[in-house]
Amino acid sequence: MNSSAPGSAPASAPGKVILFGEHAVVYGRPALAVPVTQVHADVNVSDSSRSGIWIDAPDINLHAELNTLPSDHPLASVIHNFLFISSRVSSSPLTSLPGGEGKFPNLEIKITSTIPVAAGLGSGAAVTVALTRALASHLNYSMTDEEVNAFAYEIEKIHHGTPSGIDNTVVTYARPVYFVKGQAMETFKVGKPFTIIIGDTGISAPTKESVSDVRRLWLTDKSRWETIFDKIAEISFTARRAIEQGHWEILGELMNENHQLLQKLTVSSPELDGLVAAACNAGALGAKMSGGGRGGNMLALVRPDLAETVSASLQEAGARNTIITQIS
Ligand code: MEV
Repeated sequence: MNSSAPGSAPASAPGKVILFGEHAVVYGRPALAVPVTQVHADVNVSDSSRSGIWIDAPDINLHAELNTLPSDHPLASVIHNFLFISSRVSSSPLTSLPGGEGKFPNLEIKITSTIPVAAGLGSGAAVTVALTRALASHLNYSMTDEEVNAFAYEIEKIHHGTPSGIDNTVVTYARPVYFVKGQAMETFKVGKPFTIIIGDTGISAPTKESVSDVRRLWLTDKSRWETIFDKIAEISFTARRAIEQGHWEILGELMNENHQLLQKLTVSSPELDGLVAAACNAGALGAKMSGGGRGGNMLALVRPDLAETVSASLQEAGARNTIITQIS
């Protein structure tokens, strides 16, 4: 976490995991996602004695002045567009956002993140949200959660093509989210806490690619793939009810069914399937890939007393890392 020096503005945003409904959510079906607070992006913005906006992001080995970065660099696009909407500069790549003239500030921006990149844990959205909040706080520009979320969604669209908006929403509000594209944020209650394990394949897989592959499939035979999306929607709907009523044990079977449908969508991978099987063989109640797929993370539902055993089995089966987390 950032230590807060006088005149500096720290902000943090958690990772996220999708419990049910990824990919189908891009096509208007509901999905469930929760924040993962064990991993987070942290940003600190302070005044600089040198001219320009200096970015220090040691995790990605980036130490540069803003104007030396290509304008489509993910960090540069957040900063440029933030300066535009907060009326600090007069031009923006995001023409849909209102803005105005102003003075370019001299800043030092430190960015660190423990969220694995391109792993389905929302690292891009978390950096965007933390960076936006730190800039807003330091430059005294007031933003509501709704405004931060809408801004982060515009940024996601620049980099991810046709995102549903679920990543920026769960990361912005840091609460469990029942998400339907284009609708207001809806949270859900967890009737009884339950434990999941997130297992990382260690393979980075850009969401943009799996999302555009699914779009290609859908364009070839819309009614076939719409039927799959409907089945996933039914799973998300049932899962929400089960979570709210405290019947978390039945989520295992729902995870298995959702995973099979994601396999049909071609977004799983041998590594994800291997970890899903390893978790189930070790006693998990069910398991599925999570997020964009092709790599990244899977999750497994476990009884708390089996969490360490299943986690060890996932690591033996090749998981680069595991996170045991309680959803409450
Ligand atoms: C990515 O975390 C989830 C996907 O459904 C894409 C999206 O919703 O934008 C695969």
